[in-house]
Amino acid sequence: MLPGGVSRNTVLRSPHPLYAAYGSGAHVTDIEGVTRIDFANNMASLIHGHANPAVVAAVTEQLQKGTAFTLATEIEVRYAEHLCGRNPGFEKIRFVNSGTEAVMASLKAARAFTGRARIAKVEGAYHGLYDYAEVSQTAKPATWGDPDSPMSVPVSEGTPANVLHDVVVIPFNDPKTAIAILDRHQDELACVLVDVLPHRVGLMPATAEFVGALRDWTRRHDALLVFDEVITFRSEYGGAQGWYDVQPDLTAMGKIIGGGFPVGALAGRRDVMDVMDPLASKVRFPLSGTFSANPITMTAGLVTMELFDRPAVARVNRLADRARTGIEEAIRETGVGACVTGGGSLFRVHLKPQPPRDYREAFADPNETRLLRGLLDHLLAAGFIMINTGSAAVSTAMVEDDIDGLVEAMRGWFRTWKGES
Ligand SMILES: Cc1ncc(COP(=O)(O)O)c(C=O)c1O
Repeated sequence: MLPGGVSRNTVLRSPHPLYAAYGSGAHVTDIEGVTRIDFANNMASLIHGHANPAVVAAVTEQLQKGTAFTLATEIEVRYAEHLCGRNPGFEKIRFVNSGTEAVMASLKAARAFTGRARIAKVEGAYHGLYDYAEVSQTAKPATWGDPDSPMSVPVSEGTPANVLHDVVVIPFNDPKTAIAILDRHQDELACVLVDVLPHRVGLMPATAEFVGALRDWTRRHDALLVFDEVITFRSEYGGAQGWYDVQPDLTAMGKIIGGGFPVGALAGRRDVMDVMDPLASKVRFPLSGTFSANPITMTAGLVTMELFDRPAVARVNRLADRARTGIEEAIRETGVGACVTGGGSLFRVHLKPQPPRDYREAFADPNETRLLRGLLDHLLAAGFIMINTGSAAVSTAMVEDDIDGLVEAMRGWFRTWKGES
């Protein structure tokens, strides 16, 4: 019944996906009865692993009171206060149901605020399914064009030509080229959308120069700077933007802030967020959603994020540092042409010797793709679930032994790979 046998391409596996029976903390048990350590954490969305007891208790209580109303709830106000308290740039916030929606609403808010249609985004960066946000995400050597002027490449067949026209593509971490491209579109851009640790671009942190150049340019040209922190909000108490001396105008969030339930949110400057104010004399961007801010998600999110306090953030980041250092040592010791990237509680293994600086360098050729499949199969057999790009997300449910076990399993595969090459 399901095209390809799946509802989301991320769980695809040949000859069929693994089927989960239950999860607890850092572990997932499949329906064959095999238990593994989960470094995928539903695509980096479960900061405390599975079935955290405090979240389960709070949600169970709320379930008995109802799951969704055509009324507001107190819990949504309490959660808004909590999230705004984590970042001084979050003057106002709105909840939606997914990261895709959070990015879409941010782009529409930027358009409503500036009166401009076009947006700029980084080549290869994943921002969800909105037509404009997905442009160039799957660009390939045959289609990506000149590095000084990357093409707007459609992802889905049938993407309207106007969408491609209205998206300007810039390279990652190359401020000079990016600004030269943006300069060709002065007075046309509503915003520049950027993820400072873009997963598909190689999971390398954006440089302070790159982020600073985008901040200066957007300010000079009355465009907005929008950060996609759907995946990276876990990196610091107030999001990965804490790494920089820069504040975006809007931040899109999702994943961990739902405490295991579908969620998205956008937060930022009061005057920008007020384009959504339904009490204004002219509502510039009406935003609704049947399940937005439902009390189940709000309850799970608030409990989850209260538990993800500053010491918890520091602890998962330390565990990821331990993984990155351990994997680097294993690479050095075995002499394989691999490297590891990442930041905060996320890391990614590349089966190429040099850490990629942008999407074009991160792009995996058929040989690398084949090798990665071998590594992921080896890790799965050794009891570790990874994200299918070779990435991992640490949860607070993990301990040092979990990290060291993963590093050892990788070392074993590196040795075999070295022996074969
Ligand atoms: C950076 C980023 N933005 C947006 C999204 C879309 O979020 P969702 O899958 O909740 O729609 C994702 C999902 O992986 C993401 O990683």
